[in-house]
Amino acid sequence: MKILNFGSCNVDYVYSLDHIVTPGETESTYLREVFPGGKGLNQSIALARAGAEVYHAGAIGEDGLFLKKLLEENGVDTRFLKSVSGANGHAVIQVSRDGENCILLYPGSNHQVTPEQVEETLSHFEKGDLLLLQNEVSCLGLMVEKAWEKGMRVVLNPSPYNETVAALDLSKVFCLILNEVEGKAISGFDDPADILGYFTAHHPALKVMLTLGKQGCMYQEGEQRLQHPIFRVKTVDTTAAGDTFTGYFVAGVAAGAPMEETLRLASCASALAVTKKGAAPSIPLRGEVLDQVNVLSLAE
Ligand code: RIB
Repeated sequence: MKILNFGSCNVDYVYSLDHIVTPGETESTYLREVFPGGKGLNQSIALARAGAEVYHAGAIGEDGLFLKKLLEENGVDTRFLKSVSGANGHAVIQVSRDGENCILLYPGSNHQVTPEQVEETLSHFEKGDLLLLQNEVSCLGLMVEKAWEKGMRVVLNPSPYNETVAALDLSKVFCLILNEVEGKAISGFDDPADILGYFTAHHPALKVMLTLGKQGCMYQEGEQRLQHPIFRVKTVDTTAAGDTFTGYFVAGVAAGAPMEETLRLASCASALAVTKKGAAPSIPLRGEVLDQVNVLSLAE
């Protein structure tokens, strides 16, 4: 069983400032840093650092070669990552003193993924293989359709949520990994139990991994529901905490690990990511997670 992540690679321009700007406000920042990022790249690196073998497909622009190199340095197979002309996708990220962030995306190269590239890439995969997707590249709907036709199992992180995600046929998705904002957008409900209830009613076969920020996470598969609290850490930067969780979660699913253990390791990995700056650079190695998982205390 192979894992393919068809996703974005971004250059993250990170501005540290006192508080995230509000409409009409101008605020001076005290630091500007440049990090590798993109939900796709972050999740591939998290998968690799969790110990999984992963192929990353997508499109990088003229200024994005270092992103490909980073994926390769982390053991990610980049044979399906193509180079295109023009600017790479990038993100402008504000990080406040309390570690919260807000993100502005420029798709750039990520929107140069073509139907031909999707067809060609998926032709190398087969029934039962996992296809991890987020909503930062073009052709998302086509990827879901083609993967479904081939019998691949689609794991969808519907982020950022927009009309492209709204138009997807969730009956063709194997597992959904979403936060409460995306959960509300899809279900119309605020309460986590109601969000999960919506999926039970409308998509009973769908496995749902719902992340709830400081409230931890809830996993639903058929009649089974599991919960896990967050680990207590000092927040430095929450960017890519969700991507780290996703990578470790998918690595656990792919390895057939017990779900309780998968939630514990994914929660710990994501907590460790919050203690460091940047997206990809903050993602811990499996060894660090195993060292810390019995040391950190749970927020219960
Ligand atoms: O999830 C964090 C990521 O979202 C950042 O790295 C940024 O590039 C955006 O894609």
